[in-house]
Amino acid sequence: MKSISHICCIGAGYVGGPTMSVIAQKCPHITVTVVDINEKRIAAWNDENFDNLPIYEPGLADVVKEARGRNLFFTTEVDAAIDKADMIFISVNTPTKTYGKGKGMAADLKYIELCARQIARVSTTDKIIVEKSTLPVRTAETLTSILHNTGNGVHFEILSNPEFLAEGTAVQDLLNPDRILIGGDNTPEGQEAKDALTSVYANWIDRDRILQTNVWSSELSKLTANAFLAQRVSSINSISELCEETGADVNEVARAIGTDSRVGSKFLKASVGFGGSCFQKDILNLVYIAKSYGLDKVADYWEQVIIMNDHQKKRFAEKMIASMYNTVAGKKIVLFGWAFKKDTNDTRESAAIYVTDYLLDEQAEIVVYDPKVKEEQIYADLDYLNTRSEEENRRLVTVVSSPEEATKDAHAVAVLTEWDEFTTYNWETIYNNMLKPAFLFDGRKILDSSAMKEIGFKHFAIGE
Ligand code: UDX
Ligand code: UDX
Repeated sequence: MKSISHICCIGAGYVGGPTMSVIAQKCPHITVTVVDINEKRIAAWNDENFDNLPIYEPGLADVVKEARGRNLFFTTEVDAAIDKADMIFISVNTPTKTYGKGKGMAADLKYIELCARQIARVSTTDKIIVEKSTLPVRTAETLTSILHNTGNGVHFEILSNPEFLAEGTAVQDLLNPDRILIGGDNTPEGQEAKDALTSVYANWIDRDRILQTNVWSSELSKLTANAFLAQRVSSINSISELCEETGADVNEVARAIGTDSRVGSKFLKASVGFGGSCFQKDILNLVYIAKSYGLDKVADYWEQVIIMNDHQKKRFAEKMIASMYNTVAGKKIVLFGWAFKKDTNDTRESAAIYVTDYLLDEQAEIVVYDPKVKEEQIYADLDYLNTRSEEENRRLVTVVSSPEEATKDAHAVAVLTEWDEFTTYNWETIYNNMLKPAFLFDGRKILDSSAMKEIGFKHFAIGE
């Protein structure tokens, strides 16, 4: 079996960066080069100050510190890294298409295709190509076709090796995954490639947790895994609305059903809605694929998970407005949290963006505090919606770095991300700072409801 000594990864993002850092840490005998066309991002990965790495993940800086310069390199010199590698991971982004056929649903594969063409042009030796990005089923077919039709006669073997890491726990998930999935052809060459990648992971993961499948199963498993996880969140969120009407408490319901070992306790936390770069994109992708095979019932079934999530975000904003006497115009509303979940600086598809958009439609004055998200990111997220002008976004939204101070003369506070630090604040001081009645909306159910009511807040939490 071919042993791997040089790995190249195209895309130094949330997936490529941490994944390659851990591979380099655990495999000192393999040279790992991460390339990206974004110079600023590469410079940040190479920054001497480890606080400036472009991605914040607990524990990541230590891993990078150990391996960078030893056998882990970040560079914009894509061609050279491709040429040297035995194995190339493709980890570029695959956003939902914003144009043409499949707009708003299908995955945009233009970056994947560009990568394939570049690999084909540059390669002078045989290579194993690993799809790390989440892709529609049968993308490997497209890759194979481009590589073999435009290459220099060298052999390419395509594997699918989807990533299951969750942001905020990426390093732990990489060090100790539930499973590693490797899909490839069932030919002798395909089997050899699967075994080569298996032995990379076997440097720190038990072989019985490394599953080999055919390529299509692997590609589809990733979409299915995310769809099932998102479906659990939408399911419990649908019940949260029913709880609010009936006097049941969604936490109690979640606990009652989660203790059934057939259901399990994870991913049953009611919230203001799921966000992140994957859930919505992957379900839309699944829906699109099902539709393209004429499986309308299958498509409708999964689309409902997204419909419920959009409803939850909107419903939360509407609840805020209704509670505050049906008007928030000119009212100061402080949002705690902008990231799509705690322990990450990622804001993609964060519920906070959409809640803010609804509140801005009603002319609220928004103040945002998030411990890790930068001001420029918050404005970029709002500008991207294209709902109002950039000037208006900056006039109506203020980003602050001191949370408790921000609550001075506020009408309401809403918790939109479950950062631990929010539970440690002096909520009595916050209450005293605010105009009365002081409204508190907990979109993550992290604050003790009875304590908050005791302080005097008009308190609303999802599913209570
Ligand atoms: C990943 C996966 O690839 C995506 O399919 C999955 O569903 C979510 O996670 P992620 O790492 O989160 O994407 O994306 P991002 O942080 O945007 O990183 C992608 C990087 O690829 C960017 O830094 C971008 O500059 C780079 N890129 C993109 C290239 O280097 N070359 C290109 O042609 C396109
Ligand atoms: C997800 C998958 O978990 C991971 O396996 C895949 O590789 C990428 O997509 P990620 O998006 O990083 O990971 O975060 P995840 O922890 O799954 O949370 C997604 C969203 O669901 C967050 O907004 C989170 O707050 C929300 N969520 C999660 C809930 O609202 N309730 C829950 O019980 C769990």
